[in-house]
Amino acid sequence: MTNDKFLAGKVALVTGAGSGFGREMAIAFAGKGANLVLNDINLESIEETKDMILKSYKVDILLVKADISDFNQVKEMRKKVVEKFDNIFILVNNAGVRLGTFSLVTKEEDYNKIMDVNVKGAWNVTKAFYRRMSKQDFKPITGKIINIASCAGTECGANPYIGIYSVSKAALISFTKLWALELGSSNITVNAICPGLFLTPMYKNNPEFIREFIKRRNIRLPIDRIGESKQVADVALFLASHASDYITGQNIILDGGMTVSVNTL
Ligand SMILES: NC(=O)c1ccc[n+]([C@@H]2O[C@H](COP(=O)([O-])OP(=O)(O)OC[C@H]3O[C@@H](n4cnc5c(N)ncnc54)[C@H](O)[C@@H]3O)[C@@H](O)[C@H]2O)c1
Repeated sequence: MTNDKFLAGKVALVTGAGSGFGREMAIAFAGKGANLVLNDINLESIEETKDMILKSYKVDILLVKADISDFNQVKEMRKKVVEKFDNIFILVNNAGVRLGTFSLVTKEEDYNKIMDVNVKGAWNVTKAFYRRMSKQDFKPITGKIINIASCAGTECGANPYIGIYSVSKAALISFTKLWALELGSSNITVNAICPGLFLTPMYKNNPEFIREFIKRRNIRLPIDRIGESKQVADVALFLASHASDYITGQNIILDGGMTVSVNTL
């Protein structure tokens, strides 16, 4: 990652780019010269992200309002992307929702929403775009897929207070391994980032949840602070760079040591 503009001439598509990690990753990619496709279900939020980026960086940005859980909308997004940029190099499956508590009392509509966005949404977007990545002649890797999963989906992180969300993130980790196997021969790497507890709108809007979570699970954070979105963006930059070209099918756990602490209880 020594070249300051190592993503110049490349295109990054970030889902859920209107908030939290998605916005921060989009800003980080632009800082390295990437042109961007910013997707969100909320158009105003990606207009804001675009304005923030253009204040500091001169890159080309396409905004696409689309609900990733609807494959027809994802196909429309692909059409717009192909018209403007032809191909993409980086795909970040970041958009996600967290609803409900104990899995066995979760309402069916909440179950469907979580699985439709967090799992089927990532599948929809990957299915729509992987061919646009394998067509390129960047060497040796033609595309990078980065799934934003969660410690909640790792074997030591299954969490009853966000039951179905944990299941959805475990499924995304499973997809990460599967797609790494399916797309390796197309020179596309697929990896996941599993964040722990981070201050983004997803959790800031629910401080009770964080307090309860830390108390009930007797969590000790070896690095004793809540994470910041920029730390997720830094790992995403590494996964987007040549430095990670031989890494695929992996989860990078980014949690200040939280899961180590859970394991040692
Ligand atoms: N915040 C954390 O501590 C944390 C920890 C682990 C994992 N994560 C994961 O990181 C990702 C980003 O989280 P965040 O904290 O930035 O959340 P956030 O709520 O701030 O942002 C999520 C964005 O996704 C968009 N979105 C929701 N449904 C969509 C859909 N159907 N189609 C397109 N866009 C949609 C929202 O409008 C929003 O802008 C999520 O997948 C989340 O599960 C977050």
